[in-house]
Amino acid sequence: MPKDCRGLEMTAASDTAVEAYDLTIRAYLAFARDTGDRLKAAYAADADMPMSHCLKGYFFQLFSNPALHPKADQALAQAQSAADARGANTRERTHIAALAAWRAGDLRKATALWEAILIEHPRDILALKLGHFTHFYLGDAAELRDSVARVLPCWSESTPDYGYVLAMRAFGLEEAGDYAEAEKAGRRSVEINREDSWGVHAVAHVLEMQGRAKEGIAWVADLRPSWSKANNFRFHVSWHQALFHFEREEYGEALALYDGEFRAERTDDILDLSNAIAMLWRLEDEGVSVGGRWDELAAIAERRSDDRVLAFADAHFAMALAAGGRAERAAAMAQAMSAAKAGGRVTEAPILRGIGAALAGAILAFRRGDFAAVVERLYPRRHEVRDIGGSRAQRDVFARLLIRAALAAGRPKLARALLAERAARNPNSAWTWKRSADALAALGDAAGAAAARARAARLLAA
Ligand SMILES: [Fe+2]
Repeated sequence: MPKDCRGLEMTAASDTAVEAYDLTIRAYLAFARDTGDRLKAAYAADADMPMSHCLKGYFFQLFSNPALHPKADQALAQAQSAADARGANTRERTHIAALAAWRAGDLRKATALWEAILIEHPRDILALKLGHFTHFYLGDAAELRDSVARVLPCWSESTPDYGYVLAMRAFGLEEAGDYAEAEKAGRRSVEINREDSWGVHAVAHVLEMQGRAKEGIAWVADLRPSWSKANNFRFHVSWHQALFHFEREEYGEALALYDGEFRAERTDDILDLSNAIAMLWRLEDEGVSVGGRWDELAAIAERRSDDRVLAFADAHFAMALAAGGRAERAAAMAQAMSAAKAGGRVTEAPILRGIGAALAGAILAFRRGDFAAVVERLYPRRHEVRDIGGSRAQRDVFARLLIRAALAAGRPKLARALLAERAARNPNSAWTWKRSADALAALGDAAGAAAARARAARLLAA
């Protein structure tokens, strides 16, 4: 039986077919633009390899776009019939079962099946990477970290694609708050392979969470020749660069990256959309005029406002609708989220009905200036926001929204408390100290407000 480059048995017509499959996996890990062509080459070498069909189904699912669900279903059916015809092994059959669970919207079952594969086959990098994706969208930072930790002893620097595993390790550590170890693993992954955009990105997250914006700008700029070769993931790295500029109040630079890079193409990919929506929201919040930029985002959000695939995406659609003058549609969406049914979305339905709908309601209330309602909806449930998934840096837009609302609703003591929580996690954010100054001024503490403002000024000048 042919084996993949890490020694896993593959049901395939030839070694050549498995080599083409390996290259497809590597392209996926690298966010390579030719990933689709690599898969075609695998099909050309073996038109009915069970794992090629399964991988194709996975790729369609990764878009989190209901328009691609029929294609994913077709790939799943092909994988099942190829496995029956050829007698696929247990690992391959478990992958196919995971795809079926994912198609049923049962992200937790799919994830459990990938993790079960990894217990038996710690070098199944596809299972590892897909688990990384679902742990991310389930907001499960501990599993993002530990899933990789469990397999790492079975890898070494000489195992093919080890660097990609280290990059996943780095990102998991970062999301779990272990910034020092995350930075070490991330920098090593980039030393091993400068083209590893996930490793570049993991270190960018560490720098973001620690308020090291200047270093972040340099880090992303130095590695631009590598990550700019990536598929649309390059837009997300560019978004991180804009986020560093945003933190330094260099709003012109952030907007230039928006127009010239991460929103230069008006795609409807959910990562691309969330980059754009969250950046415009942050900029407007600081009083920056964003012109007519909401229009195209709101139009796409309206088209996709019945998706209900990921609460993370839906929350961003609600932001674009509310900010882009389509409040009625946003209100209908919040209503529909609160009534989300389990059919086809086993895992997400309760999240949509709970924190998803609450968040959409808070977003709408914020836009219509009902700040007390924002606080009422969001403050008691703010820790649940992690359940919509995404990174800490991405979800920070909602943390800022609550603080702004507390200040605007005349709740400076609450704002002060939330800002203290924030400053304890990251004392290097100028925004945090400026808002702290606002809260302290509202409480009549002029000296405290002046000190907080001075601290923000020092950070910005550094
Ligand atoms: Fe990110």
